[in-house]
Amino acid sequence: MLTKILSVANLGLQALEIECEVNVAAKGFPAFTIVGLASKAVEEARERVKTAIINSDMEFPLAKITVNLAPADLPKDGACYDLPIAMGILSSSNQIDLGEEKVYFFGELSLDGTLRHCRGVFLLAILAKEKGVKKIFVPRLCANEAAVVEGIEVFPVDNLKEVIAHFRGEKKIRPLKKIESEELLENMRVQFDFSEILGQNSAKRALEIAAAGGHNVFLMGPPGSGKTMLSRALPGILPPLSEAESLEVTKIYSITGNIAPGSSIIRERPFRSPHHTTSQIGLIGGGSNPRPGEITLAHRGVLFIDEFPELSRGSLEALRQPMEDGYVSISRAAGSVTFPCQFMLVAAANPCPCGFLGDSKKECRCNVHQIANYQKKLSGPIMDRIDIHLTVPAVDVNQLMINKENIKSEKSEEIRKRVVAAREIQRQRFLKIEGVYSNADMKNKHLKELAKLDDKANILLKMAVNKFNLSARTYFRLIKVSRTIADLDNSEIILDKHVAEALQYRVKHED
Ligand SMILES: Nc1ncnc2c1ncn2[C@@H]1O[C@H](COP(=O)(O)OP(=O)(O)OP(=O)(O)O)[C@@H](O)[C@H]1O
Ligand SMILES: [Mg+2]
Ligand SMILES: [Zn+2]
Repeated sequence: MLTKILSVANLGLQALEIECEVNVAAKGFPAFTIVGLASKAVEEARERVKTAIINSDMEFPLAKITVNLAPADLPKDGACYDLPIAMGILSSSNQIDLGEEKVYFFGELSLDGTLRHCRGVFLLAILAKEKGVKKIFVPRLCANEAAVVEGIEVFPVDNLKEVIAHFRGEKKIRPLKKIESEELLENMRVQFDFSEILGQNSAKRALEIAAAGGHNVFLMGPPGSGKTMLSRALPGILPPLSEAESLEVTKIYSITGNIAPGSSIIRERPFRSPHHTTSQIGLIGGGSNPRPGEITLAHRGVLFIDEFPELSRGSLEALRQPMEDGYVSISRAAGSVTFPCQFMLVAAANPCPCGFLGDSKKECRCNVHQIANYQKKLSGPIMDRIDIHLTVPAVDVNQLMINKENIKSEKSEEIRKRVVAAREIQRQRFLKIEGVYSNADMKNKHLKELAKLDDKANILLKMAVNKFNLSARTYFRLIKVSRTIADLDNSEIILDKHVAEALQYRVKHED
């Protein structure tokens, strides 16, 4: 007898419905084959499914079993077809009755029939809603991911025995209650509060602007000046993810298996800090079955790279296109996969390998070649894509400590309020533009209408372009940063003082 079970395959960040056809034929030599562009992990489903069925006190039919995963041209990977295959076999051999209703089954079985955590359940739930599938059966460990999606019933499954009992009418599984997004707590992983950082007021101001508009930042300074500390304090002033952003991020975290068991939607703006030795694939994404890299995991959040010039040349090069486009295309044998990567880059570096070039107290120990080599990595196209260039001087902490009482240091919470207010202005501004949430996301074509400068501001900008010989890219990026500074100032039109501040972060004074 032939049974058709519905399940879902993931391709990049897309979920697609697949049909798992199971035929159990009493005639013929007993065998168990899976066809339909199945990967090795899917092939191995045979052993897992067979053992799990037997260990769930059911009969594994001694017959010719054929499983076809359709459409056949769609590559299928992972072990999540175990559950649909098992259900198909049990139904085809008349051990359970699945009825007429359309449902999705998804999950990897262990040998004792327990369902394991698997990737992509959030995407499956969204697809179910789109396709009008009312019920889904998924591993309990990742069921919360699905329970935020409205209009579907999510059945959390611990083991195969439970699903069998459910369809035999012996003991029904209770669907999960829908998780309201308001119930989800925001828990921020903040390592430092801005008030703990003494001095560095201009760096703090620049990070506030960056957080408010989603702009890229480069921090340069001698060892111990607090670059790492400032960057690590940044998550504390980032605005929360909007509803729409949160869905985008959750898809990525679901497909990469980065949602902790029992958790649901991602509410926190990502903050990724890969080490500079991370491989190019780890950073950008790739592999034979393409996986998103750090830049995609940082989508709608921050990608912090400390010791930036230590990145390999390959990685630096590979960052360029995605930084410009906001997405990355990874080609593979069968076409290419695209992942979003609209992140805010925060890069930190010393001015030279030893770190003391230009320092007033310590002498630089590097030779000319070392310095040239180091700075070559920091020049050109990659730096052109960074909107805010900051010099972080070493502060005399002892001096600051003595005067501590006199220093008004603002708490992250206070700064964050201004950032959130500026983001709200941006949210209203971009309401009708899909995929644009912050000033940094704006395309150049939007600038004319959405980032208007007054006459004086225009003149100042033109003068600067001529005087400093700025590239077209820099010109557009300057307008975006000016737009954010104006938003923090609650000014609808960009004034010359806003442009002047944006210019400070772009042109060195000695130029
Ligand atoms: N402005 C500051 N206020 C308070 N503490 C500071 C400040 N700057 C530096 N420190 C202290 O110095 C330590 C070193 O700072 P941090 O690691 O951020 O420096 P860095 O610029 O990243 O140096 P490196 O170039 O060596 O990586 C911090 O952990 C902190 O304790
Ligand atoms: Mg550091
Ligand atoms: Zn040096």
